[in-house]
Amino acid sequence: MKRSEHNKARGAVLWFTGLSGSGKSTLASDIARRLVELGLPVEHLDGDQLRAMFPGTGFSREERDSHARRVGFLSSLLEKYGVFVVTSLISPYSESRRAVRDMCTGFIEIHVSTPLDVCEKRDPKGLYRRARNGEITQFTGVTDPYEAPADPELTIDTSSMSAERAGDMVLAYLAEKGFVPNGR
Ligand SMILES: Nc1ncnc2c1ncn2[C@@H]1O[C@H](COP(=O)(O)OP(=O)(O)OP(=O)(O)O)[C@@H](O)[C@H]1O
Ligand SMILES: [Mg+2]
Repeated sequence: MKRSEHNKARGAVLWFTGLSGSGKSTLASDIARRLVELGLPVEHLDGDQLRAMFPGTGFSREERDSHARRVGFLSSLLEKYGVFVVTSLISPYSESRRAVRDMCTGFIEIHVSTPLDVCEKRDPKGLYRRARNGEITQFTGVTDPYEAPADPELTIDTSSMSAERAGDMVLAYLAEKGFVPNGR
């Protein structure tokens, strides 16, 4: 069904992509909370939660691609009902993100561009240390590629911007594009 067949509400898909530790989940949770406070229907789909729910999901190029497309498809369904879908997945491949963009109507790609050395210093899950030790393989930024978005709607480097300021920027973008009312 097309969105117009459901209702007139205009949802969006806010797709946070970036390295592990770049701040995707932190920023996505924050913006989801702020959208809820505006009275909007919101769903946050986080990569870690999805992988916990579907433990067979691996880290090969094919599996990462399917993971992103699966989440993209779910997002596109929710979006049709006027839901603001906020996703936080590394989603390292341009081609997968392009496929998701094509599935959605209001796709907003947000590149969390925090540099690798900052992400590695933060290492909130100890994954960089384990990747450097060789305990885990196919780790994005260390032993697996990250293809940075060529033309994202927004770029946020959390090494030089607070989470609160980043949230302000995302909300300002949504207001400017007419997704949420102005004058919050
Ligand atoms: N300005 C900021 N914005 C977001 N996170 C920040 C900022 N400054 C410091 N941090 C910290 O950086 C870390 C980012 O971790 P987070 O789990 O959000 O990353 P992630 O991109 O979701 O990683 P993963 O892909 O492994 O899930 C957190 O510990 C957070 O507190
Ligand atoms: Mg995360």
